[in-house]
Amino acid sequence: MASASSNPSDLIVELRSIVEPLDLAELFRKSQPLEVELGCGDASFLAEYARRHPERNFIGVERLLGRIRKLDRKGQRAGLTNLRGVQIESSYFLHYLLPPHSASALHIYFPDPWPKKRHHKNRLINESFPQLVFAALAPGGVVYLRTDDEDYFAQMIGVFGASKEFQRIETPPELVELLTDFEREFRARGIQTLRAAYRTPA
Ligand SMILES: C[S@@+](CC[C@H](N)C(=O)[O-])C[C@H]1O[C@@H](n2cnc3c(N)ncnc32)[C@H](O)[C@@H]1O
Repeated sequence: MASASSNPSDLIVELRSIVEPLDLAELFRKSQPLEVELGCGDASFLAEYARRHPERNFIGVERLLGRIRKLDRKGQRAGLTNLRGVQIESSYFLHYLLPPHSASALHIYFPDPWPKKRHHKNRLINESFPQLVFAALAPGGVVYLRTDDEDYFAQMIGVFGASKEFQRIETPPELVELLTDFEREFRARGIQTLRAAYRTPA
């Protein structure tokens, strides 16, 4: 292990290795439960959620530099020491960088829906994804999903519903009420959003 360094005034993790798992103890001041948002965008949700939960650590994963910089600005402005950002592809992060069974929750909100049938192969959540999530979650861990795309939602609940390792649960009210940037935009345009959550055995 030992794969990350970061400028002390910067919440963006500078990866020293892209093939070894992150050393979480090096990233955070306190050892406490970890939650990860994949494709965190401008991180409005994650920065606010991290502010409300100083007793947990959070990592935002985002492929676009401009967006991960917004996580950094928001987190620094709020003085957060329990939030970090990693600029990388989400599946790669789960495969190679997140230590096995280290996250108590994964949040995946409005992943790109790739609506055209010939592009469905690019979707993050596919048949093999639940295994990746299972390997990432600690026992009793939860994956939270949201999308505006009905076809993608059917695929999400199809693959997690077919996996013996996951049981569908209700999304807690605190999360239902805390909207993401994209969700706020969809609501403003009158577009319905869908959500689901799945827990692994404790
Ligand atoms: C539709 S936006 C949603 C952002 C945020 N979750 C929200 O709800 O406001 C999708 C985000 O995921 C990022 N993204 C898409 N595919 C990704 C991938 N495979 N790995 C990492 N980030 C990804 C995009 O750059 C974008 O910021």
